[in-house]
Amino acid sequence: MSGFPTVRMRRLRRTAGLRRLVSESRLDPAQLLWPLFFKTSGDATPIPSMPGVSQHPLRDAGDLARRAADLGLGGVLLFGIPDHKDEAGSEAWAQQGVVQEATRAMKRAAPDTVVVTDVCLCEYTSHGHCGVLKGDRVDNDPTLEILTRTAVSQAEAGADLVAPSDMMDGRVAAIRAGLDQAGFSEIPIMSYAAKYASAFYGPFREAAGSAPQFGDRRSYQMDPPNSDEALREIALDLQEGADIVMVKPGLPCLDIIRRAKEQFGGPIAAYQVSGEYSMIKMAAQLGALDGDRALWEATIALRRAGADIIITYAAPELAEKLGKREEGRGKSTAV
Ligand code: PBG
Repeated sequence: MSGFPTVRMRRLRRTAGLRRLVSESRLDPAQLLWPLFFKTSGDATPIPSMPGVSQHPLRDAGDLARRAADLGLGGVLLFGIPDHKDEAGSEAWAQQGVVQEATRAMKRAAPDTVVVTDVCLCEYTSHGHCGVLKGDRVDNDPTLEILTRTAVSQAEAGADLVAPSDMMDGRVAAIRAGLDQAGFSEIPIMSYAAKYASAFYGPFREAAGSAPQFGDRRSYQMDPPNSDEALREIALDLQEGADIVMVKPGLPCLDIIRRAKEQFGGPIAAYQVSGEYSMIKMAAQLGALDGDRALWEATIALRRAGADIIITYAAPELAEKLGKREEGRGKSTAV
């Protein structure tokens, strides 16, 4: 292969049409999952640390489901803010729990919208940890039974896919067995397989009221320096029956997404978490960067790294802007 001047890399960058033609990664609304926070009543409450994101009352569930369908989104991912919290997080598996009710309402309003439910206890426990406590430790094995009960109650409410985010050992196997026993062998599991103990979840914890009341999550979520460990986590979840595996957070873990994709193939999901979203939105509000372009760039990077599915609070605005985005990448007279 000869080099310059026979080869000129800039030839294919000359016009928007050519750039589009050779674009290696694309974003399709069907690959986006939209996380939503539901509370039982009241009005929609904006979340100060997440510009443009609100806690929604149950009565808005139908409208939100139709909105997701109209935008062609891949689906929604539901989180609940219960009226009452207790030591064991019992609202997580309540038949009339907030996520269960939101699931029913959404499936009624837009039956084809894929409803994914987060399976975890931290939004429901008074102490804010993702499992039941023994002293000041999260007790792994008793937590599995509670998570399983939660997943089954969500499947009963009509969830299309359940997504355990707790990081207990053995929870995929436990939930799989529980779903099978309850007659839900066809309901798939998307596990938060490689989930790091990340500072980027900060705004979410405000949104979901799920900050731990003492300590942190470092005894169950992964340590950021590690990468081989992420592959072990993913391999184990797949072995236990996970149908989709997730890497979280997204942008700080592009290397993990790439390694996971190369080693296991798909489907791999990446979660563009609350902090990644807020960082861009707030910098844009301050005029430090072009928020639309930064958001697109941060999201397409997840696709380029190998993510098949992207979970993002920006799903609706990305879907709305995707058509226009191609234009936004430049008219034919770029310099
Ligand atoms: C529940 C859960 C968390 C997130 C998703 N599921 C919070 C946490 O682990 O503390 C974070 C999502 C985000 O930051 O957008 N365990």
